[in-house]
Amino acid sequence: MLEATERGKDFVKTMHVVLIHNHPSLLDECCDLINMEWPRSKTARMRTLKMSCDTLPTCLALVAESKVLGHSKVSAIGSMPGACIVESVVIHPDYRGKGLGRLIMSETEKYAASQGINTAYLSTIDQQDFYKKLGYSECAPVSIYGCSGLYSNGKTETCVGNIKKEPFTMERIPLSRTISDCSAVPSTIPPPPPLPPPIKRPEGKDLKTHFKILNRKTYFKKILVHIAE
Ligand SMILES: CC(C)(COP(=O)(O)OP(=O)(O)OC[C@H]1O[C@@H](n2cnc3c(N)ncnc32)[C@H](O)[C@@H]1OP(=O)(O)O)[C@@H](O)C(=O)NCCC(=O)NCCS
Repeated sequence: MLEATERGKDFVKTMHVVLIHNHPSLLDECCDLINMEWPRSKTARMRTLKMSCDTLPTCLALVAESKVLGHSKVSAIGSMPGACIVESVVIHPDYRGKGLGRLIMSETEKYAASQGINTAYLSTIDQQDFYKKLGYSECAPVSIYGCSGLYSNGKTETCVGNIKKEPFTMERIPLSRTISDCSAVPSTIPPPPPLPPPIKRPEGKDLKTHFKILNRKTYFKKILVHIAE
């Protein structure tokens, strides 16, 4: 499969998948590769990449001769133990169609399975056929909210099988104080802008189709249990 790469067998031999946090020198190039596909501020992108850790979220990079050819990110889904979401899968434009997408996905799944993950979810707008070829099947949308990515002193707090939660505390404000504070608010605050018009459901479309049009993403899942065995 990999012999197809135009730089020859020696290049292929150097190809390997690494965890980005173990190779900080590759961060910049990895950031540029992802931003080439999905432009975003470098600061924001680097912050996401720097959250990568051994226990999810983890960013994987496909590397050959110190050049970053691909990236994927796997994160835990806080509300679904044993499940992960795979995101930001990208292969360098010059190296697409040579089996590298399949390679990084296979390594990503193996890595997720090694972390106790048994089901991988992902969503895509236009790569349905690629994921179908890799054994993914369409599923109902999953919410990634509650997924890892909480910051505490710049570091992620959430890890698979070791979810740390800060106790939620709220300072009670005496009602009398709240009321008197409100009366002190100047009345010069401009009124809020008008609400947008309600979205009309097209005639003859059922709700499921209607929402599929609004949310252009297709969700996929793959059971990874057999990968871990
Ligand atoms: C999607 C992407 C990662 C695929 O990587 P790739 O290296 O080109 O894919 P591969 O060469 O490993 O392809 C694996 C198989 O999927 C097929 N395939 C790849 N892309 C496909 C597509 N868009 N439509 C249909 N089949 C596709 C290949 O033909 C191959 O099939 P085969 O094994 O039967 O020969 C790559 O095209 C990419 O980076 N695209 C831009 C970013 C993106 O859209 N990422 C996905 C976000 S959800």
